[in-house]
Amino acid sequence: MDNSMQAIVVKQAQLEVGELPRPQPAEGELLVEVKAAGVNRADLLQKQGKYPPPEGASSLLGLEVAGTVAAVGNGVRGWKAGDRVFGLMGGGGYAQYAVLNSQLAMRIPAGMDFASAAAIPEVFLTAWQALVWLARLQPGEKVLIHAGASGVGTAAIQLARALGAEAWVTASAAKHEACRALGASEAIDYKTHDFAEVVADKTRGKGVNVIVDFIGADYWQQNMQSLAVDGRLIMLAFLGGVKTEANLAPILRKRISVYGSTLRSRSLSYQAGLTKDLSDFLLPRLERDELKPVLHKTFNWQQAEAAHQEMEQNKNIGKIVLIF
Ligand SMILES: NC(=O)c1ccc[n+]([C@@H]2O[C@H](COP(=O)([O-])OP(=O)(O)OC[C@H]3O[C@@H](n4cnc5c(N)ncnc54)[C@H](OP(=O)(O)O)[C@@H]3O)[C@@H](O)[C@H]2O)c1
Repeated sequence: MDNSMQAIVVKQAQLEVGELPRPQPAEGELLVEVKAAGVNRADLLQKQGKYPPPEGASSLLGLEVAGTVAAVGNGVRGWKAGDRVFGLMGGGGYAQYAVLNSQLAMRIPAGMDFASAAAIPEVFLTAWQALVWLARLQPGEKVLIHAGASGVGTAAIQLARALGAEAWVTASAAKHEACRALGASEAIDYKTHDFAEVVADKTRGKGVNVIVDFIGADYWQQNMQSLAVDGRLIMLAFLGGVKTEANLAPILRKRISVYGSTLRSRSLSYQAGLTKDLSDFLLPRLERDELKPVLHKTFNWQQAEAAHQEMEQNKNIGKIVLIF
Protein backbone atom coordinates (compact mmCIF):
# COMPACT_ATOMS: atom_id res chain seq x y z
CA MET A 1 0.00 0.00 0.00
CA ASP A 2 1.19 3.51 -0.81
CA ASN A 3 1.70 5.18 2.56
CA SER A 4 2.01 8.74 1.37
CA MET A 5 -0.68 11.38 0.93
CA GLN A 6 -1.09 14.93 -0.24
CA ALA A 7 -1.99 17.65 2.20
CA ILE A 8 -2.07 21.41 2.58
CA VAL A 9 1.06 22.70 4.28
CA VAL A 10 1.92 26.20 5.48
CA LYS A 11 4.99 27.90 3.98
CA GLN A 12 5.61 31.47 5.14
CA ALA A 13 1.95 31.96 6.07
CA GLN A 14 0.82 30.73 2.63
CA LEU A 15 -0.94 27.47 1.85
CA GLU A 16 0.66 24.98 -0.53
CA VAL A 17 0.18 21.37 -1.57
CA GLY A 18 2.75 19.02 -0.02
CA GLU A 19 3.53 15.31 0.14
CA LEU A 20 3.50 13.69 3.60
CA PRO A 21 3.28 10.24 5.18
CA ARG A 22 -0.26 9.05 5.92
CA PRO A 23 -1.14 9.20 9.62
CA GLN A 24 -1.76 5.88 11.38
CA PRO A 25 -4.80 5.38 13.60
CA ALA A 26 -3.76 4.87 17.22
CA GLU A 27 -5.86 3.05 19.81
CA GLY A 28 -9.46 4.27 19.66
CA GLU A 29 -8.93 6.22 16.41
CA LEU A 30 -10.30 5.98 12.88
CA LEU A 31 -8.28 6.68 9.77
CA VAL A 32 -10.57 8.68 7.49
CA GLU A 33 -10.23 9.07 3.74
CA VAL A 34 -11.18 12.73 3.67
CA LYS A 35 -13.84 13.78 1.14
CA ALA A 36 -14.51 17.24 2.59
CA ALA A 37 -12.96 19.46 5.27
CA GLY A 38 -14.48 22.55 6.88
CA VAL A 39 -12.62 25.87 6.90
CA ASN A 40 -12.67 27.76 10.19
CA ARG A 41 -11.60 31.22 11.30
CA ALA A 42 -9.10 29.52 13.62
CA ASP A 43 -7.31 28.12 10.53
CA LEU A 44 -6.56 31.69 9.40
CA LEU A 45 -4.90 32.39 12.75
CA GLN A 46 -2.99 29.07 12.80
CA LYS A 47 -1.65 29.82 9.31
CA GLN A 48 -0.18 33.07 10.68
CA GLY A 49 1.42 31.22 13.60
CA LYS A 50 -1.03 32.77 16.09
CA TYR A 51 -2.97 29.66 17.14
CA PRO A 52 -0.71 26.65 17.72
CA PRO A 53 -2.40 23.22 17.76
CA PRO A 54 -2.93 21.58 21.16
CA GLU A 55 -0.32 19.08 22.37
CA GLY A 56 -0.54 15.75 20.57
CA ALA A 57 -2.65 17.10 17.68
CA SER A 58 -1.54 17.10 14.04
CA SER A 59 0.34 20.26 13.08
CA LEU A 60 -1.67 20.45 9.82
CA LEU A 61 -4.66 22.78 9.57
CA GLY A 62 -8.22 21.46 9.68
CA LEU A 63 -10.55 20.99 12.65
CA GLU A 64 -13.30 18.89 11.04
CA VAL A 65 -13.76 16.42 8.21
CA ALA A 66 -16.28 14.17 6.51
CA GLY A 67 -15.26 11.06 4.61
CA THR A 68 -15.16 7.29 4.71
CA VAL A 69 -13.44 5.09 7.26
CA ALA A 70 -10.23 3.71 5.70
CA ALA A 71 -8.98 1.77 8.74
CA VAL A 72 -9.78 1.38 12.42
CA GLY A 73 -7.32 1.44 15.33
CA ASN A 74 -7.25 -1.10 18.16
CA GLY A 75 -10.18 -0.98 20.54
CA VAL A 76 -12.59 0.77 18.16
CA ARG A 77 -16.13 -0.59 18.28
CA GLY A 78 -19.04 0.08 15.96
CA TRP A 79 -17.04 1.38 12.97
CA LYS A 80 -15.70 -0.48 9.93
CA ALA A 81 -13.91 0.37 6.69
CA GLY A 82 -16.23 2.14 4.24
CA ASP A 83 -18.56 3.73 6.84
CA ARG A 84 -19.49 7.38 6.18
CA VAL A 85 -18.24 9.47 9.08
CA PHE A 86 -17.80 13.07 10.19
CA GLY A 87 -16.44 14.79 13.26
CA LEU A 88 -14.18 17.19 15.11
CA MET A 89 -10.38 16.91 15.41
CA GLY A 90 -7.56 18.90 16.99
CA GLY A 91 -5.90 19.34 13.57
CA GLY A 92 -5.02 17.49 10.37
CA GLY A 93 -8.23 17.88 8.36
CA TYR A 94 -6.62 19.60 5.33
CA ALA A 95 -5.26 16.28 4.02
CA GLN A 96 -6.27 13.28 1.97
CA TYR A 97 -6.19 11.15 5.14
CA ALA A 98 -6.80 12.22 8.73
CA VAL A 99 -7.27 10.53 12.09
CA LEU A 100 -10.47 11.06 14.02
CA ASN A 101 -11.01 9.84 17.57
CA SER A 102 -13.89 7.36 17.49
CA GLN A 103 -15.47 9.12 20.50
CA LEU A 104 -15.85 12.24 18.32
CA ALA A 105 -17.09 10.37 15.25
CA MET A 106 -20.67 10.78 14.03
CA ARG A 107 -22.50 8.88 11.30
CA ILE A 108 -23.43 10.97 8.25
CA PRO A 109 -27.24 11.03 7.96
CA ALA A 110 -28.62 9.17 4.94
CA GLY A 111 -28.92 11.45 1.93
CA MET A 112 -26.45 14.06 3.26
CA ASP A 113 -23.41 14.75 1.09
CA PHE A 114 -19.86 14.97 2.43
CA ALA A 115 -19.58 18.75 2.00
CA SER A 116 -22.67 19.37 4.13
CA ALA A 117 -21.47 16.94 6.78
CA ALA A 118 -18.05 18.64 6.96
CA ALA A 119 -19.84 21.97 7.55
CA ILE A 120 -21.35 20.76 10.82
CA PRO A 121 -18.98 19.70 13.66
CA GLU A 122 -17.02 22.80 14.68
CA VAL A 123 -19.82 25.35 14.40
CA PHE A 124 -22.69 23.26 15.74
CA LEU A 125 -20.61 21.94 18.66
CA THR A 126 -19.46 25.48 19.47
CA ALA A 127 -22.99 26.86 19.28
CA TRP A 128 -24.39 23.97 21.36
CA GLN A 129 -21.71 24.42 23.99
CA ALA A 130 -22.42 28.17 24.16
CA LEU A 131 -26.22 28.00 24.23
CA VAL A 132 -26.87 24.81 26.17
CA TRP A 133 -23.85 23.89 28.28
CA LEU A 134 -22.72 27.40 29.22
CA ALA A 135 -25.71 29.75 28.90
CA ARG A 136 -28.40 27.17 29.78
CA LEU A 137 -30.71 28.91 27.35
CA GLN A 138 -34.39 28.45 28.24
CA PRO A 139 -37.46 28.34 26.00
CA GLY A 140 -38.92 31.82 25.60
CA GLU A 141 -35.61 33.57 26.32
CA LYS A 142 -34.00 35.99 23.87
CA VAL A 143 -30.44 35.38 22.66
CA LEU A 144 -28.45 37.99 20.74
CA ILE A 145 -25.95 36.31 18.41
CA HIS A 146 -23.19 38.57 17.09
CA ALA A 147 -21.77 37.76 13.63
CA GLY A 148 -25.11 36.05 13.00
CA ALA A 149 -24.20 35.00 9.46
CA SER A 150 -20.89 33.40 10.47
CA GLY A 151 -20.55 29.64 10.52
CA VAL A 152 -21.12 29.54 14.28
CA GLY A 153 -23.85 32.20 14.02
CA THR A 154 -25.89 30.28 11.42
CA ALA A 155 -25.75 27.17 13.63
CA ALA A 156 -26.61 29.17 16.76
CA ILE A 157 -29.68 30.81 15.18
CA GLN A 158 -31.11 27.43 14.24
CA LEU A 159 -30.30 25.73 17.56
CA ALA A 160 -31.73 28.63 19.57
CA ARG A 161 -34.99 28.45 17.61
CA ALA A 162 -35.14 24.66 17.95
CA LEU A 163 -34.74 25.10 21.72
CA GLY A 164 -37.75 27.41 21.76
CA ALA A 165 -35.80 30.64 22.25
CA GLU A 166 -35.87 33.84 20.19
CA ALA A 167 -32.74 34.50 18.10
CA TRP A 168 -31.64 38.07 17.40
CA VAL A 169 -28.51 38.81 15.40
CA THR A 170 -26.06 41.53 14.48
CA ALA A 171 -24.57 41.21 11.00
CA SER A 172 -23.75 43.36 7.99
CA ALA A 173 -26.93 44.34 6.14
CA ALA A 174 -26.42 42.13 3.08
CA LYS A 175 -26.54 39.06 5.34
CA HIS A 176 -29.80 39.89 7.18
CA GLU A 177 -32.14 38.07 4.81
CA ALA A 178 -30.18 34.83 5.23
CA CYS A 179 -30.27 35.17 9.03
CA ARG A 180 -34.04 35.77 8.97
CA ALA A 181 -34.54 32.76 6.68
CA LEU A 182 -32.79 30.61 9.32
CA GLY A 183 -35.18 31.88 11.99
CA ALA A 184 -33.71 35.12 13.36
CA SER A 185 -36.54 37.42 14.45
CA GLU A 186 -34.43 40.61 14.63
CA ALA A 187 -31.39 41.49 12.53
CA ILE A 188 -29.38 44.61 13.43
CA ASP A 189 -26.90 46.25 11.07
CA TYR A 190 -24.06 46.92 13.51
CA LYS A 191 -22.33 49.15 10.96
CA THR A 192 -25.12 51.74 10.90
CA HIS A 193 -26.81 51.23 14.29
CA ASP A 194 -25.79 51.04 17.94
CA PHE A 195 -27.12 47.56 18.68
CA ALA A 196 -27.53 48.38 22.38
CA GLU A 197 -29.98 51.16 21.48
CA VAL A 198 -31.96 48.84 19.20
CA VAL A 199 -32.09 46.13 21.90
CA ALA A 200 -33.20 48.66 24.54
CA ASP A 201 -35.86 50.01 22.22
CA LYS A 202 -37.24 46.62 21.13
CA THR A 203 -37.22 45.09 24.63
CA ARG A 204 -38.51 48.27 26.35
CA GLY A 205 -35.30 48.50 28.32
CA LYS A 206 -35.41 44.92 29.61
CA GLY A 207 -32.56 43.53 27.46
CA VAL A 208 -31.79 40.05 26.16
CA ASN A 209 -31.09 37.01 28.35
CA VAL A 210 -28.02 35.67 26.54
CA ILE A 211 -25.39 37.13 24.21
CA VAL A 212 -23.05 34.97 22.11
CA ASP A 213 -20.09 37.24 21.41
CA PHE A 214 -17.11 36.95 19.05
CA ILE A 215 -16.15 40.63 19.08
CA GLY A 216 -14.87 41.28 22.61
CA ALA A 217 -13.48 44.70 23.49
CA ASP A 218 -15.38 46.75 20.90
CA TYR A 219 -18.72 45.36 22.15
CA TRP A 220 -18.12 45.06 25.90
CA GLN A 221 -19.99 48.20 26.93
CA GLN A 222 -22.91 47.61 24.54
CA ASN A 223 -23.12 43.96 25.62
CA MET A 224 -23.36 45.03 29.26
CA GLN A 225 -26.09 47.54 28.36
CA SER A 226 -27.99 44.92 26.34
CA LEU A 227 -28.15 42.10 28.89
CA ALA A 228 -31.22 41.60 31.05
CA VAL A 229 -31.12 40.85 34.77
CA ASP A 230 -29.49 37.40 35.26
CA GLY A 231 -28.09 37.69 31.72
CA ARG A 232 -25.28 35.46 30.44
CA LEU A 233 -22.46 36.67 28.17
CA ILE A 234 -20.61 33.90 26.29
CA MET A 235 -17.30 35.11 24.83
CA LEU A 236 -15.86 32.92 22.07
CA ALA A 237 -13.51 35.22 20.13
CA PHE A 238 -12.08 38.73 20.10
CA LEU A 239 -12.47 39.89 16.50
CA GLY A 240 -12.81 43.44 17.88
CA GLY A 241 -9.81 43.33 20.23
CA VAL A 242 -9.02 42.33 23.80
CA LYS A 243 -8.39 45.60 25.66
CA THR A 244 -11.07 48.03 26.74
CA GLU A 245 -11.93 50.39 29.56
CA ALA A 246 -14.75 48.62 31.32
CA ASN A 247 -17.55 49.81 33.57
CA LEU A 248 -18.10 46.73 35.74
CA ALA A 249 -21.18 48.02 37.55
CA PRO A 250 -23.75 46.13 35.40
CA ILE A 251 -22.18 42.78 36.39
CA LEU A 252 -23.39 43.26 39.97
CA ARG A 253 -26.47 45.35 39.28
CA LYS A 254 -27.85 42.83 36.76
CA ARG A 255 -26.18 39.70 38.19
CA ILE A 256 -24.47 39.04 34.84
CA SER A 257 -22.45 35.84 34.29
CA VAL A 258 -19.50 36.04 31.88
CA TYR A 259 -18.16 32.81 30.34
CA GLY A 260 -15.20 32.30 28.00
CA SER A 261 -14.34 29.12 26.16
CA THR A 262 -12.34 27.60 23.33
CA LEU A 263 -13.58 24.23 22.09
CA ARG A 264 -10.19 23.11 20.80
CA SER A 265 -8.51 23.27 24.20
CA ARG A 266 -11.15 21.07 25.87
CA SER A 267 -10.29 17.52 26.95
CA LEU A 268 -11.25 14.51 24.82
CA SER A 269 -13.83 13.45 27.40
CA TYR A 270 -15.44 16.92 27.35
CA GLN A 271 -15.51 17.00 23.53
CA ALA A 272 -16.87 13.43 23.46
CA GLY A 273 -19.67 14.32 25.91
CA LEU A 274 -20.52 17.42 23.89
CA THR A 275 -20.53 15.43 20.63
CA LYS A 276 -22.89 12.82 22.12
CA ASP A 277 -25.21 15.46 23.58
CA LEU A 278 -25.34 17.45 20.34
CA SER A 279 -25.78 14.39 18.10
CA ASP A 280 -28.76 13.16 20.14
CA PHE A 281 -30.45 16.50 19.48
CA LEU A 282 -29.14 17.35 16.02
CA LEU A 283 -28.96 14.15 13.96
CA PRO A 284 -32.72 13.35 14.03
CA ARG A 285 -33.47 16.99 13.17
CA LEU A 286 -31.02 16.92 10.25
CA GLU A 287 -32.70 13.76 8.96
CA ARG A 288 -36.10 15.45 9.17
CA ASP A 289 -34.67 18.53 7.41
CA GLU A 290 -35.64 20.71 10.38
CA LEU A 291 -32.06 21.94 10.80
CA LYS A 292 -29.34 22.20 8.18
CA PRO A 293 -25.73 23.18 7.78
CA VAL A 294 -25.41 26.42 5.84
CA LEU A 295 -22.93 25.96 3.02
CA HIS A 296 -21.61 29.21 1.55
CA LYS A 297 -19.18 27.82 -1.02
CA THR A 298 -17.00 24.80 -1.73
CA PHE A 299 -13.44 24.99 -3.08
CA ASN A 300 -11.24 22.25 -4.49
CA TRP A 301 -8.85 21.51 -1.62
CA GLN A 302 -5.85 22.60 -3.70
CA GLN A 303 -7.45 26.08 -3.75
CA ALA A 304 -7.35 26.31 0.06
CA GLU A 305 -5.59 29.70 -0.10
CA ALA A 306 -8.51 31.15 -2.13
CA ALA A 307 -10.94 29.65 0.40
CA HIS A 308 -9.06 31.44 3.19
CA GLN A 309 -9.22 34.74 1.33
CA GLU A 310 -12.99 34.37 0.95
CA MET A 311 -13.28 34.05 4.75
CA GLU A 312 -10.70 36.74 5.49
CA GLN A 313 -12.76 39.19 3.41
CA ASN A 314 -15.91 38.34 5.43
CA LYS A 315 -17.72 37.24 2.25
CA ASN A 316 -19.24 34.06 3.65
CA ILE A 317 -22.72 33.39 4.96
CA GLY A 318 -22.26 30.07 6.78
CA LYS A 319 -19.50 27.63 5.97
CA ILE A 320 -16.68 27.33 3.45
CA VAL A 321 -15.70 23.72 2.72
CA LEU A 322 -12.75 22.14 0.88
CA ILE A 323 -13.59 19.21 -1.41
CA PHE A 324 -11.11 16.37 -1.88
N1 LIG B 1 -14.16 29.79 21.20
C1 LIG B 1 -14.47 28.77 20.42
O1 LIG B 1 -14.57 27.62 20.86
C2 LIG B 1 -14.73 29.03 18.96
C3 LIG B 1 -15.11 27.98 18.13
C4 LIG B 1 -15.40 28.28 16.78
C5 LIG B 1 -15.26 29.57 16.31
N2 LIG B 1 -14.83 30.54 17.17
C6 LIG B 1 -14.69 31.94 16.72
O2 LIG B 1 -15.98 32.39 16.39
C7 LIG B 1 -15.90 33.37 15.35
C8 LIG B 1 -16.81 32.94 14.23
O3 LIG B 1 -16.24 31.80 13.62
P1 LIG B 1 -16.71 31.35 12.18
O4 LIG B 1 -15.75 30.33 11.67
O5 LIG B 1 -18.14 31.01 12.27
O6 LIG B 1 -16.48 32.74 11.44
P2 LIG B 1 -16.83 33.25 9.98
O7 LIG B 1 -17.79 32.31 9.34
O8 LIG B 1 -15.55 33.56 9.35
O9 LIG B 1 -17.63 34.61 10.23
C9 LIG B 1 -17.08 35.70 10.88
C10 LIG B 1 -17.97 36.93 10.59
O10 LIG B 1 -17.80 37.85 11.65
C11 LIG B 1 -18.07 39.16 11.18
N3 LIG B 1 -16.99 40.02 11.65
C12 LIG B 1 -15.68 39.91 11.36
N4 LIG B 1 -14.98 40.85 12.01
C13 LIG B 1 -15.87 41.57 12.72
C14 LIG B 1 -15.76 42.68 13.62
N5 LIG B 1 -14.58 43.23 13.91
N6 LIG B 1 -16.89 43.17 14.17
C15 LIG B 1 -18.10 42.62 13.89
N7 LIG B 1 -18.26 41.56 13.07
C16 LIG B 1 -17.16 41.03 12.50
C17 LIG B 1 -18.15 39.08 9.66
O11 LIG B 1 -19.55 39.12 9.28
P3 LIG B 1 -20.30 40.52 8.89
O12 LIG B 1 -20.25 40.60 7.39
O13 LIG B 1 -21.67 40.34 9.43
O14 LIG B 1 -19.50 41.60 9.54
C18 LIG B 1 -17.59 37.71 9.36
O15 LIG B 1 -18.08 37.16 8.16
C19 LIG B 1 -14.44 33.41 14.91
O16 LIG B 1 -13.81 34.50 15.50
C20 LIG B 1 -13.88 32.11 15.44
O17 LIG B 1 -12.50 32.17 15.69
C21 LIG B 1 -14.58 30.31 18.48
